[in-house]
Amino acid sequence: MKTLVVTGASRGIGKAIAEKFLSESWYVIGTSTSGKASLKRDNFEIYKLDVSDPESIERFAKALARSKKKIDVLINNAGVYLDEDTSPLNTKALRKTLEVNLIGLADLTERLLPHINNGAHIISMSSGAGSITDEPDAYKPAYQISKAAVNMFTRTLAEALKKRNITVSSVDPGWVRTDMGSSSAPRDPKEPAEEIFKMATSEVNSGFFWHKNKKRAW
Ligand SMILES: NC(=O)c1ccc[n+]([C@@H]2O[C@H](COP(=O)([O-])OP(=O)(O)OC[C@H]3O[C@@H](n4cnc5c(N)ncnc54)[C@H](OP(=O)(O)O)[C@@H]3O)[C@@H](O)[C@H]2O)c1
Repeated sequence: MKTLVVTGASRGIGKAIAEKFLSESWYVIGTSTSGKASLKRDNFEIYKLDVSDPESIERFAKALARSKKKIDVLINNAGVYLDEDTSPLNTKALRKTLEVNLIGLADLTERLLPHINNGAHIISMSSGAGSITDEPDAYKPAYQISKAAVNMFTRTLAEALKKRNITVSSVDPGWVRTDMGSSSAPRDPKEPAEEIFKMATSEVNSGFFWHKNKKRAW
């Protein structure tokens, strides 16, 4: 049985991803900041993890090491959107956003590398908001900066993990109906979950940015 680790599995896109992999008979290890999840299945475990806290990351990595599980797919899904429509940039929001969306994501990934199988796939949830080439649809600088930086993390990690044949990807899931995306969003979380499952289990070029299973502009 293959193993998925997905952060932020308590709700939204992360929960839909966990459900999709479970329906395909994967073993799923999810995380939430409370250590609780509404999902209950035999092959599902939930761990407490706050990616903005290095000690929490360390505890999670150690718990995973004790479980002796090896990871086939890691999905860095947990994220926050803290911008308010104010100008100039709110640096407090920027610090917190980078702590969760970028530094925590990178720290967790690096800590889990010894438990990730060669030939595995690491997928980080980015956003169209992180694209440098797209015309911005709104002013949300902390979030935009964090997701552009996640994309560069994907590029650099893909290079570093070539020797282990580990594929590294960024995904733009589109605008999705979740607590973050709001009820006005056009996409159901099941849609990106289906696409991500397909991508995670297919051979794709490493180090790219994807939307609906097609390479998209950075
Ligand atoms: N929704 C969209 O339209 C959209 C569009 C583009 C990209 N994205 C990206 O997709 C990902 C998932 O978004 P979503 O819409 O599903 O968001 P969401 O409904 O707000 O869920 C966020 C998830 O992240 C977890 N999380 C938040 N802060 C955390 C922290 N400090 N440490 C660990 N986990 C934390 C939450 O856990 P708790 O429940 O424990 O708080 C929750 O499971 C994010 O990276 C987001 O930026 C979303």
